Amino acid sequence: MSLWGGRFSQPSAAEFKQFNDSLRFDYVLAPFDIQASKAWAGALQHAGLISADENQQLQQALTALAKQVAKEPELPLASGAEDIHSWVEAELIKAIGDTAKKLHTGRSRNDLVATDLRLFCKQFAQSLISANLAAIENLLQFAQTYQDAMLPGYTHLQRAQPIVAGHWAMAYVSMLQRDVSRLRETVRRMDVSPLGSGALAGTTAAIDREALAHELGFRHACDNSLDGVSDRDFVLDLLHAASTGMIHLSRIAEDVIFYCSGESGCFSMSDRISSGSSLMPQKKNPDLFELLRGKTGRVVGHQHAMQMTLKGLPLAYNKDMQEDKEGLFDALHTYAQCLQMLAFALPELSVNRDHAARQAALGYSNATELADYMVSKGIPFRDAHHLTGELVVYAQQQNLALEQLSLAEFQQICDRIDQDVYATLDLNYGLQQRKAYGGTAPGAVKMAIKKAQDWLQAA
Ligand code: ARG
Repeated sequence: MSLWGGRFSQPSAAEFKQFNDSLRFDYVLAPFDIQASKAWAGALQHAGLISADENQQLQQALTALAKQVAKEPELPLASGAEDIHSWVEAELIKAIGDTAKKLHTGRSRNDLVATDLRLFCKQFAQSLISANLAAIENLLQFAQTYQDAMLPGYTHLQRAQPIVAGHWAMAYVSMLQRDVSRLRETVRRMDVSPLGSGALAGTTAAIDREALAHELGFRHACDNSLDGVSDRDFVLDLLHAASTGMIHLSRIAEDVIFYCSGESGCFSMSDRISSGSSLMPQKKNPDLFELLRGKTGRVVGHQHAMQMTLKGLPLAYNKDMQEDKEGLFDALHTYAQCLQMLAFALPELSVNRDHAARQAALGYSNATELADYMVSKGIPFRDAHHLTGELVVYAQQQNLALEQLSLAEFQQICDRIDQDVYATLDLNYGLQQRKAYGGTAPGAVKMAIKKAQDWLQAA
């Protein structure tokens, strides 16, 4: 039986019902619908709208239903109910008869669905926070293992300056730490209960909405019933947090794909996470990381879709809002899965230390050191920059690295250069010099790892 048959003399067309029903995706809200219903039944008793005995019956039937759903989450699917709210009510009526029909007193599916979805989002966000923390732990492990492994650092995908692989990994630790904080802020903002907003205008039941909100674990009841039923900002916030998180995963993935490429060769993937080509026997492909990168488009797409769905909606509830679920669920599951895959893949990655150090030395990546050296000899930086550029061109023409030039060759272009220039041009020297907070000097990276470990402990 549908929840709204009374004013209709014809049943819904099968085609319309198929289009309109949301059970096939909103059945996952069952535990939250039951939780909200238990709190609502309690509030109804408090307001004197049902007896203690009726509340007792509802509580028992709802608890039994929750147990069934926990055992068999897909249980609602075969029922043909319109949505999860209709299913829960129908099951209660089957179990306890007329008392169940009192549960919807003063309540609407509009405030109910908004409450269910917030409860779902709060819980899912917590699992995303945990998944981020696990990924951070593995990034820290990687950073620790390779805290002094030299790696070419790039800007514009041109070799720029040497870094250590630990510093590279710690950049992503910073990003994922922000993702954790973004998720926490999102949870805090969504932590408001719409229950008791009714269909749009508030409820006639004498409900203490603040107490009801607390009962459900929310910080507060929402301030306005119209906003309560039509606010889906929390869906947008969570999709935004997921999109930004995925963009970070995509950037890690892109770096790994590049460092694993034949052109770079600085990283290797284990066979366990690589795939081959059906035609080219020599291939070892980074499919896992390409999927992390690729799935980002899907998650960001869901964010855009939801923004477009909400844009221009009049107050209060409109059926357009049923479109808030499929994209959200897919985005959240995709993000969770990608975080797990990143955490899984990191221990299967290794830095080819010798090769990477050789790569870091190519491309005149110690030119900045040479310019800084000239500055230390009293040459203004702008002139030092220019003279170093000339030396790079000269070395390129000779097919030599800077440190392979003779002192006489250096002095042809800059007579202040001395024998001590060679120590400066050693890549390790350049690394050690970048020891200010946040830099790539191995000592600074070690401190960064320690700080992030402490953060993780407290998280
Ligand atoms: N299935 C609906 C949704 O997901 C529930 C709310 C329906 N409310 C209504 N007035 N038709 O949005």
